[in-house]
Amino acid sequence: MYQYMTDVGAKSVQGSFMADWAGRVIRREEVVDSTNRVARQWAREGAPHGAVVVARQQLAGRGRRGNRWVSPKDAGLWLSIVLRPRVASAVFPLLPLAAGLAVADACQQVTGAVPAIKWPNDVVLLGHKLCGILVEGESGAAVLGIGINVRQRAEDFPEDLRGKAGSLFMLTGHDVPMRALEVALLAQVQRRVDDLDFLPEYVTRCVTIGAAVRVLEPQMEYTGVAEGVDDTGALLVKTADGTLRRVLAGDVSVRGLMGYV
Ligand code: BTN
Repeated sequence: MYQYMTDVGAKSVQGSFMADWAGRVIRREEVVDSTNRVARQWAREGAPHGAVVVARQQLAGRGRRGNRWVSPKDAGLWLSIVLRPRVASAVFPLLPLAAGLAVADACQQVTGAVPAIKWPNDVVLLGHKLCGILVEGESGAAVLGIGINVRQRAEDFPEDLRGKAGSLFMLTGHDVPMRALEVALLAQVQRRVDDLDFLPEYVTRCVTIGAAVRVLEPQMEYTGVAEGVDDTGALLVKTADGTLRRVLAGDVSVRGLMGYV
């Protein structure tokens, strides 16, 4: 049983959860290149469903579409979870959305602030990206990598990320204890992966839906209005000529026409 009680600002936050599977086995590392790389290797060697790798620092944190993920020591929660869902193929496309919702709920639980989600899974607060999620397939398993910026100040981010990236401390003023956030996150991931009936809640959190967007696919680019998500988690975008396009996460970038979100 996980338990914690801690003060976040004026508020006392407490909680506990039975780790049915999420985080039943945890590897804690000081420094790694990437927790996703370590978790993928562990998955190849037979890591069980819910095995977690968490590191204080990553030297080569990986982001989506080949981007880097800057992960200084003790500045954020950098972890990866090995998932072996029973009905794997049906579940995999929904994992990024489930994880985005889990992160938003966990951040809300420990700070009281209400983050939004930019499709598929960027968690944003006050127009800044708080968290990134990278889901990778490995030997029949999925590795769910989650990076949440917790302690950075604005000037700690590299220049190209300033004004776009933010941390829980910057955006809420709370110095959130890392372990409380970890426990809240694992509990939320377990809940969302076990019950994939979350799309109505996801839609209420997702700021992309209803927005004018630009979709950048490897071979082409177009604009339209995001009308919703289908039951596989694909974004439905209506273009100016009335065509409804299904946008799959992966190599695609969706940008709001009104700024980052
Ligand atoms: C993104 O580009 O938004 C996704 C970033 C994912 C970062 C996390 S940090 C923990 C895990 N290990 C990695 O190397 N990447 C993910």
